[in-house]
Amino acid sequence: MPDFRVTAISSLQAELSVPGDKSVSHRAAILGGLSNGTCAIRNFLPSEDCLNTLNAMAALGARHEVLASLTGYGPTELVIHGRSMRLAAPAAPIDCGNSGTGMRLLAGLLAAQPFDSELFGDASLSSRPMGRITQPLAEMGASIETLGAKPGCAPLRIHGARLRPIRYEMPVASAQVKSAILLAGLFTDGETTVTQPAETRDHTERMFASFGMSVRRDGNAISLTGGQIPQACDFTVPGDISSAAFWLVAAAALPGSLLRVRDVGLNPTRTAILNVLSRMGAHIHEALHSSSGEPIGHLEIQGANLTGTTLKPAEIPNLIDEIPVIAVAAALASGTTEIRNARELRVKETDRITTAVNNLRAMGAEIEEFDDGMAIHGGRQLHGADLDSFGDHRIAMAFAIAGLFASGETVIRNTDCVNTSYPGFSHHLRAVMAHATDPSAFTLPTDPQP
Ligand code: S3P
Repeated sequence: MPDFRVTAISSLQAELSVPGDKSVSHRAAILGGLSNGTCAIRNFLPSEDCLNTLNAMAALGARHEVLASLTGYGPTELVIHGRSMRLAAPAAPIDCGNSGTGMRLLAGLLAAQPFDSELFGDASLSSRPMGRITQPLAEMGASIETLGAKPGCAPLRIHGARLRPIRYEMPVASAQVKSAILLAGLFTDGETTVTQPAETRDHTERMFASFGMSVRRDGNAISLTGGQIPQACDFTVPGDISSAAFWLVAAAALPGSLLRVRDVGLNPTRTAILNVLSRMGAHIHEALHSSSGEPIGHLEIQGANLTGTTLKPAEIPNLIDEIPVIAVAAALASGTTEIRNARELRVKETDRITTAVNNLRAMGAEIEEFDDGMAIHGGRQLHGADLDSFGDHRIAMAFAIAGLFASGETVIRNTDCVNTSYPGFSHHLRAVMAHATDPSAFTLPTDPQP
């Protein structure tokens, strides 16, 4: 993909929808493949991360047929033929690409199978910590070798076993870890309970319920009984609020702007970005129109002169993926924004504290870096710069948004990575820079039905 070349915009009056939610699409591919029948999945995210998970399930025997696709990317509507919990041994190691979610959830699933398997990923994924899942899965009776050059890292060689249920207190607030254990727990004979130190996104629990399974929640403890079989169902994936966040920040920071985002996921474990932008001064209206399984609705946001805010510790897991673009919003706001308790950012696709801080400094922002976050002293005019994404999709997109507010031209290099979560981002960026107001200018091209 060519570099992004971004210049400032003076207005944003737009209506758009963003592609399907990444977290929900991974889980739909997995639960559809485990289910006892045929599931139609609508608005699946055809990003590299989710396609890798879909292909992993196909390698485990869960076939799918494509009903519609996004041109140049992959399926948006598909039918998955579930295996009723009986997966086939894969013929080759499984490629998880750049996706921590894909690798960690699949590891939970594979740990419980009566066969061995191997998961690998790209250089970024091969440097991310896997001990957080291999340790609890080992307590359940699995044996997982971490074969990476870096200790505790992928590739993973998984020796599947008959697992025992577990009561596990997670040391980190991670939905990926919670989900890996719950998936493994489904294959055990008893009750598995995972306690999280803070609330994390609850898509796995909601999707288990949508597939007819019982999951109990008591405060931050989530329990399920093994032996349940996901009941095949049709499922619509909401638009991804983490993708919408880029345009929400662009609109929020531009007084006079008005942006409508249609059919976006409004799961309360993902909407802290809206609270933060409201605290900073943006006017946001939510209109929920569907609440079975995942809440879906329309958003309307009007821009303002933003002021800084302090992120609350409990908000951090809820908006962890939005922090790079929140840091951009903070640089555009007057006053100081404090982001602490966010050390997890250092083990994402890149060390997002360092990559966000360095890129913001290159644009002239005043920012302090901490071990667990940053303080952004906003209000300085940003200037265009030549920036790298460092192969991190959210850094590439966050700094494209910063470029919309900078003097001169901002160039973002190494932008292929945006396809891991937001196919069509460059199309939307071009429409925003062209001041498009007609929703059709934001419509991504789809292939004719086969
Ligand atoms: C995800 C959980 C988050 C998030 C990631 C997706 C998920 O990671 O950063 O993009 O789908 O469960 P952690 O659970 O590791 O914090």
